[in-house]
Amino acid sequence: MPTLSAKFPNVAVYDHPLIQHKLSILRDKRTGHEQFRQLLNQIAGLMAYEVSRNLPVRAIDVETPVARTRGIALAAPTTIVPILRAGLAMMDGLLALFPEAHVGHVGIYRDESTAKPVTYYAKFPPNMAQGSVILVDPMLATGGSAVHAIELLKNAGCRDIQFVALVAAPEGIVALHRVHGEVPIHVASIDERLNERFYIVPGLGDAGDRIFGTQ
Ligand code: PRP
Ligand code: URA
Repeated sequence: MPTLSAKFPNVAVYDHPLIQHKLSILRDKRTGHEQFRQLLNQIAGLMAYEVSRNLPVRAIDVETPVARTRGIALAAPTTIVPILRAGLAMMDGLLALFPEAHVGHVGIYRDESTAKPVTYYAKFPPNMAQGSVILVDPMLATGGSAVHAIELLKNAGCRDIQFVALVAAPEGIVALHRVHGEVPIHVASIDERLNERFYIVPGLGDAGDRIFGTQ
């Protein structure tokens, strides 16, 4: 079970030793892109188990080889939406647990000089608003990208939205909570702060570059 942050009650911190062990390797600047992708997907998969705890379910009848019994099924389709680029590197881990999930995409990058989000792509499944949506991006820094992505989801009619990140800055959590206070946030770590270039400290650097080897 994750621990609810004492300072930010809408944030669940995944302090499990296995997740923290993998996160520490991700933080290490010597870790290359192949291992980086592998570990990020593994952490996303480990987090998915608890993120899915509150998904709505319905009762169903099941015929076992021995008898009839009651079971449960997820009540509505779940949609996973990665924020491009870096969110893509969490998808294999999440889809391993939700193989039936639908997938939407939002393309957002931060303008290098202002750190403001620039949206360049959005494509969502038509029935997305009927079920739960899990928005994923490893980094929550100023919060601009996540705030904007959730706006797009809400404009598409979504109401049941959760945000899953790896590392969050307190500044980003505050910004996200101010605009979308009802959206639960799941993270592996709440870091110290942002630096003057709006990078998370200690963080892990530019996630997209480290995932795709573009640094
Ligand atoms: C990174 C990261 C988030 C965003 C977080 O993406 O993956 O989307 O920054 O920063 P914010 O909270 O201040 O908005 P980036 O802009 O580097 O784009 P990329 O994934 O295409 O490299
Ligand atoms: N985006 C990243 O990839 N890393 C940060 O520290 C901040 C934004």
